Amino acid sequence: MNKIKVAVMVSGGGTNLQAIIDSCKSGTISHAEVALVISNKKSAYALQRASDNNIPSAVFTKKDLGSQEAFEKAIISELDKRHIDLIVLAGFLSILSEDFTRRYSHRIINIHPSLIPSFCGQGYYGLKVHEAALERGVKITGATVHYVNEIPDGGEIILQKAVKVNKGDTPEKLQLRVMKQAEWKILPEAIELVSRELLEQGGNK
Ligand code: GAR
Repeated sequence: MNKIKVAVMVSGGGTNLQAIIDSCKSGTISHAEVALVISNKKSAYALQRASDNNIPSAVFTKKDLGSQEAFEKAIISELDKRHIDLIVLAGFLSILSEDFTRRYSHRIINIHPSLIPSFCGQGYYGLKVHEAALERGVKITGATVHYVNEIPDGGEIILQKAVKVNKGDTPEKLQLRVMKQAEWKILPEAIELVSRELLEQGGNK
């Protein structure tokens, strides 16, 4: 079967990448395959997960490449080389330019660890999102998968899932519950959904 070729972009531990890999193995994702992992951090444990699963990976850092433009040019060239159809930002903590997001309009999705439009946008990433949710005292939080456009966390919402905040939660405890109950489920689901749609629209790039 013709499958959508996915590049997963990461910066850290890669538990969402792992959930995607596991979903490809279990069949939850059947219309897409992970063809590439790109990291902007040499030390990202996600790279180990890629190599453990024989997935090609590449590392590009702004520091090495000298500018945002050169950084994105290197990423685009790698995506082209591997004939990537869909980009999944799974804990990729670097902002992409408007040129980049326009080039891949409706072909980049992102997982964000809150119910957008709460606790999102510039400066809200990783644990900071959960710190802000606890500080505000919300009783329900969650995760969102959305298309990526030029506005940070501003693109069309694809899937969301709510998660309860418990008494005594720390940012770390809340982060883990949001990952387990929401992120690791809705990100694979969204990849399958978007891949089916892309294939129906005429398939791969
Ligand atoms: C995840 O919680 C993801 O939602 C978040 O970073 C974490 C990465 O974990 N992303 C953002 O905050 C984006 N604004 P992982 O590397 O274990 O998948």
